[in-house]
Amino acid sequence: MSKALEGVRILDMTHVQSGPTCTQLLAWFGADVIKVERAGVGDATRGQLRDIPDVDSLYFTMLNHNKRSITLDTKNEKGKEVFERLLRCCDVLVENFAPGALDRMGFPWEKIHEINPGIIYASVKGFGKGPYQDCKVYENVAQCTGGSASTTGFDDGPPTVTGAQIGDTGTGLHLAIGILAALVHRQSTGLGQRVECAMQDGVMNLCRVKFRDQQRLQHGPLTEYPQYPNGEFGSSVPRSGNASGGGQPGWAVKTKPGGPNDYVYVIIQPPGWAHLMRVIGREELIDDPEWSTPQVRLPKLDQCFAMIEEWTKTKTKFEVMETLNPLNVPCGPILSIEELINEEALMKTGTVVEVDHPERGKYRTVGNPIKLSNSPTEVIRSPLLGEHTDEVLTDVLGYNESEIETLREAGAV
Ligand SMILES: CC(C)(COP(=O)(O)OP(=O)(O)OC[C@H]1O[C@@H](n2cnc3c(N)ncnc32)[C@H](O)[C@@H]1OP(=O)(O)O)[C@@H](O)C(=O)NCCC(=O)NCCS
Repeated sequence: MSKALEGVRILDMTHVQSGPTCTQLLAWFGADVIKVERAGVGDATRGQLRDIPDVDSLYFTMLNHNKRSITLDTKNEKGKEVFERLLRCCDVLVENFAPGALDRMGFPWEKIHEINPGIIYASVKGFGKGPYQDCKVYENVAQCTGGSASTTGFDDGPPTVTGAQIGDTGTGLHLAIGILAALVHRQSTGLGQRVECAMQDGVMNLCRVKFRDQQRLQHGPLTEYPQYPNGEFGSSVPRSGNASGGGQPGWAVKTKPGGPNDYVYVIIQPPGWAHLMRVIGREELIDDPEWSTPQVRLPKLDQCFAMIEEWTKTKTKFEVMETLNPLNVPCGPILSIEELINEEALMKTGTVVEVDHPERGKYRTVGNPIKLSNSPTEVIRSPLLGEHTDEVLTDVLGYNESEIETLREAGAV
């Protein structure tokens, strides 16, 4: 079975999380991803948050599957020659260095386009053009500057960042979509193009509904927010606690036995109202005009969820799920990472995968969440630093043994 991106070669100059997420996804779809790293150093994440001394960290291994690694000093004169050769034989260059780093190496877009007019040059930066364009940015900075932190958390608490890596991984995914669009465009034009995605912009895209609410706010309070009807609405979208982002009210309520993740998220949609009231033993509210329509429930959603919680507290989160789902009441248990990493159904679909690494042994990772029927993903362990240097120099770039020796002596590889 062939892979969707077989024959596409990626020159991967990415590091940390945002860029590597993008190139890992392309590698899972079958692209040949050649990761360029500095000799002796490599991607900084190899050494970050290490759990086993001197072994590539899980941070690195879990973001760099299915890639080949070569060490190359792109600031060394001979190294630049190798880099040029790589540019000629790759379809896509992906990088997420600090702004201007590739220009400082001597490779601005115009030069790259001249070397290989077909190459697609894709970058992640913290910000687009504007006052912050030169800033270095990490995940939480993007969450804070993209509208996520100001709208996450409870009204009486500080702005809060989320566990989902929407700045890094989110932007990496956006970039991958841009690259795929540019690859399709190249089929008809033969030309590569610049693909850029700023982390702030990626987070804003994921916060789209908050921009909807900002403008609704001009016409009155946001009635599905917990601030309604008793709290204050200022001039900007407030933090909405656990309120549902959609048009259907929802909240996380407690379950048995009361541990930190013994909660279930319950959504009250009109078709489920009668079933829900029957299950919790409040049949009298089904047709009560004070409770029976979404409109009259809005000002007392807190009381509504308190009633539901009285019942959910007598069940485990899984029992609630089993009872409510067949009754047309959307709900979801709050699953811990421990529960997810051990979930057999997720291992069967390849969303959780066990990988063997020569230095660290077996570990689990999140596999490819996107399933293609004709292009299944096989998760292959991440490369050791420079593991494929000779292989790539020989097979991809056509260097012979003595030329490789010269490159080594010059400190280029
Ligand atoms: C992530 C980030 C903050 C890290 O910053 P950093 O650790 O200081 O690393 P930089 O990107 O500045 O790169 C370090 C230097 O190494 C150099 N370098 C990297 N690989 C090299 C190689 N193979 N050979 C020679 N030099 C190399 C770069 O050219 C750069 O040199 P310069 O400062 O002279 O231009 C920064 O890269 C950034 O803002 N990236 C864009 C946004 C982003 O992706 N952030 C999320 C990361 S998950």
